[in-house]
Amino acid sequence: MATATRERLAIHGGDPVRRRPWPTWPVWETDDAQAVADVISSGQWFSGSGAKNREFAEFYAGLHDARFAVPCCNGTQALELALRAAGVQAGDEVITSPYTFIATASAIVQVNAVPIFADVEPGSLNLDPVAAEAAITERTRAIVAVHVAGCPANLDAFTLLAERRGLVLIEDAAQAHAAQWNGRGVGAIGRAGTFSFQASKNLNAGEGGIVLTNDPETYERAWSLANCGRVRDGGWYEHRMLSGNYRLTEFQAALLLSQGKRLLEQTARRNDNALYLASQLAAVPGVRPQARDPRITRHAYHLFIFRYDSREFGGLTRDEFLNALRAEGVPCSPGYSPLYRSPAFKIDTGTHPFPAHVDYASLHLPEVEQACAEAVWLTQNTLLGYRRDMDEIVTAVRKIHSAMQQ
Ligand SMILES: Cc1ncc(COP(=O)(O)O)c(C=O)c1O
Repeated sequence: MATATRERLAIHGGDPVRRRPWPTWPVWETDDAQAVADVISSGQWFSGSGAKNREFAEFYAGLHDARFAVPCCNGTQALELALRAAGVQAGDEVITSPYTFIATASAIVQVNAVPIFADVEPGSLNLDPVAAEAAITERTRAIVAVHVAGCPANLDAFTLLAERRGLVLIEDAAQAHAAQWNGRGVGAIGRAGTFSFQASKNLNAGEGGIVLTNDPETYERAWSLANCGRVRDGGWYEHRMLSGNYRLTEFQAALLLSQGKRLLEQTARRNDNALYLASQLAAVPGVRPQARDPRITRHAYHLFIFRYDSREFGGLTRDEFLNALRAEGVPCSPGYSPLYRSPAFKIDTGTHPFPAHVDYASLHLPEVEQACAEAVWLTQNTLLGYRRDMDEIVTAVRKIHSAMQQ
């Protein structure tokens, strides 16, 4: 690293560490196109009775050790289905993480329940079970634990907490394709779990979602809610509850089946590369990769997140660091802000759906606020390269670190 101290940063006109492009996403080949074309030529386009939907539901449930699966339009609606199927009702409080995509909370609002944010663990950036327990009131009905970046939340602690306090545990596993906790697929460890097949996700069809569960009653309700309130063995015009049409198309199911053939190999590569990258970056002062609990037997690595401490980089702010890293040829971003700081949560007393006792504007959760100020995100396609690609990331970070020492 001695040479790095003399190197001019790319942002100041020096040579970047990397000029080559990174692996692109999605990865697709002719078999994916053929899978969609086969549905077209079959003439079997209706997903309600679709063979591809059935096949995909079976494949994905098997991948995650779940008994039942309900494919649907997207990860947001999957959350709505799971919440309603698990019995969350208007006015119920649902405790969740403020370090997530807005859909986690907007789905709770969509079912007329109230999102209650509790703080995260500084290492994993996932919802802290202790903070979640402290947020329980007599109105609490459920906890939505998010597996952020594809890193499973502490499912042992959340399962126990939910049992002990009589709450429903839902896993927002939108980012956690193929992830495992203690050797078991995430998603059906709680009452239900939801996934997204939106374009950026590690398994995608542009859009799409799925609900997993091991509970027969939750399954029947989620299926009905996704199918206009029909029941599985009932008549076409027999509707037992009011709901909409949330179905996934046959074209998407076929594409997901085809893409699914690559998922485990890609996930293994991401795990290899991410573990190596984390071990190398952890040795750079001021860099702290997202903590990985030893009970995580497979991480999805939808994102690779590390925390950046500007004090170890001569006061270079996180945003200046991001610009410097990009200039070295490493695409990166700052990621989320605390969800309760979103303008969407500014309570409008005329029309807001939140009860008066919930005041997001004055909420202050120190761990998530600090984490959001320090996080650096790399996207999953970066992890689909080779070890030398990971080495270039480390070299770029070290180069910036060296340049910032007196
Ligand atoms: C944590 C989380 N939850 C929910 C969603 C919503 O999924 P979708 O975009 O498929 O509606 C996403 C998607 O980005 C997500 O990252």
